[in-house]
Amino acid sequence: APRLNSAGLDLTDPVAFPAMSKSRAAFQTTQWHAEPLFTSPSGGEVDPKGRVRGPSVNLSNPADPSDRLGTVTNATPDDVASAISAATNSTWLQTPVNTRAELLRATADLYEANRPELFALLAREAGKTWADAVAEVREAVDFLRYYAAEAERQTLGAARGPIAAISPWNFPLAIFTGQIAAALVAGNPVLAKPAPQTPLIAFRAVQLMHQAGIPTDAVQLLPGAGEVGTALTSNAAISGVVFTGSLPTARKIDCVMAEHLAPTVPLIAETGGLNAMVVDSTALPEQAVRDILASAFQSAGQRCSALRVLYVQEDAAERTIEMLKGAMDELSLGNPWDLSTDIGPVIDEAARAKIQAHIDTYEKNGNLIHRLKTPGRGTFVAPAVLRIGGIADLAEEIFGPVLHIATFKADELGAVVAAINASGYGLTFGLHTRISSRVRQLSNTVRAGNIYVNRNQIGAVVGSQPFGGGGLSGTGPKAGGPHYLPRFTLGLGHAETA
Ligand code: NAD
Ligand code: ALA
Repeated sequence: APRLNSAGLDLTDPVAFPAMSKSRAAFQTTQWHAEPLFTSPSGGEVDPKGRVRGPSVNLSNPADPSDRLGTVTNATPDDVASAISAATNSTWLQTPVNTRAELLRATADLYEANRPELFALLAREAGKTWADAVAEVREAVDFLRYYAAEAERQTLGAARGPIAAISPWNFPLAIFTGQIAAALVAGNPVLAKPAPQTPLIAFRAVQLMHQAGIPTDAVQLLPGAGEVGTALTSNAAISGVVFTGSLPTARKIDCVMAEHLAPTVPLIAETGGLNAMVVDSTALPEQAVRDILASAFQSAGQRCSALRVLYVQEDAAERTIEMLKGAMDELSLGNPWDLSTDIGPVIDEAARAKIQAHIDTYEKNGNLIHRLKTPGRGTFVAPAVLRIGGIADLAEEIFGPVLHIATFKADELGAVVAAINASGYGLTFGLHTRISSRVRQLSNTVRAGNIYVNRNQIGAVVGSQPFGGGGLSGTGPKAGGPHYLPRFTLGLGHAETA
């Protein structure tokens, strides 16, 4: 059988890695341009004469503001209206499912063929290290191939119609692609709005989809900020919205849809989390520390799945924290273009200022346990460890390299679980223990979409670890799992068909 998950790239391979690095170098100074990609309502090219173009915005590398990346021209309300009309008239709904699946696979092949440019964009536009960029392209390719295979395996209901796909900057290729791939393969034309921080990679991705043969009216790109999102989610011709981003934005979208769209139009929302990990005194300290480090600080903590609150059993706390500090000191912060960099920048100045203010407040109150030094240029936040009473002290997700640590006594585990559940979020949960009854007990009582035992709690693999939460963390169904596609169709479909 053909392999479903893509092979990725072994960064320690003495032949393959230098070759890829050399190919990526061709894009080290490239200037890109992104703009709306849409067709006229009658299906043809949009006449550029007489069309009022949206504002152009300059983009730069978050790790190095002197590295200019190019420009994006954002979509206007007229562009959005034209794109929605073209989607409504699109014949994509009549394309047979096998053809749709083949076009997704052709896109996956083109993504793989264009990895040097995609790696360069992920590093320069989104601040992704080599390891993160490789994982991200793999995930995008996996979404394309997995949803293609699922669409052929399942008996899906009829397509819904035009779907608005609104995505975040932290997985600007993988989540952007996953949303589009699922909606498309289920037969729906897609109007994709990338995050304003990462339009360039989104533009290249949609160009590759079109190059693969997906019709231009089946996937259209509308770059811009929240206004473009509102123009989409308030348009009565939209048949569904798939959104990944923050809880406050999901709430706004929900209100706009309730006001403007029929109550039957679904919102599939995947949001944030206040993710916890419990480390008890039977845990293996070296393993726990390695997994805490990855969960809290990989991708500069800019993952919805990232560890935010670590609960360590009191009698293991001193040892765990000392080892954690030592391991943190070995991390290298810097430009993600360099292979030696473990942690890159946060996405922009607004994010940096917000995260840093949170750390500074804890420091002022005497609750800074440890932090690294910040590099001079770019929007960096040095990873920090803060002392906290418990998860209830956090009012919101802090989306950066910040780990909060609380301690608990042996008889307080029930209260810890109650506090985690009381946060209302439920995305990921980690547990380090060598007591098997505790694994069962906590897996049954902690409300979280993805629970990881004796490993890190990030990096769910498409097809084998469907990803998503409940409560304030999202509506479900889980992405990368068998129940995702039926939500993009009318009727339930049959996810379990052999
Ligand atoms: P965000 O909510 O600020 O933006 C997400 C998208 O929504 C962007 O494209 C943005 O332009 C758009 N948007 C903003 N206002 C809008 C409005 N009023 N109407 C329609 N669209 C609007 O989130 P972000 O900062 O880009 O991403 C980080 C957040 O995403 C974190 O909270 C993280 O936890 C979450 N996230 C969740 C998952 C998951 O699978 N659960 C995955 C990745 C990221
Ligand atoms: N799917 C991503 C992870 O698991 C968000 O880290």
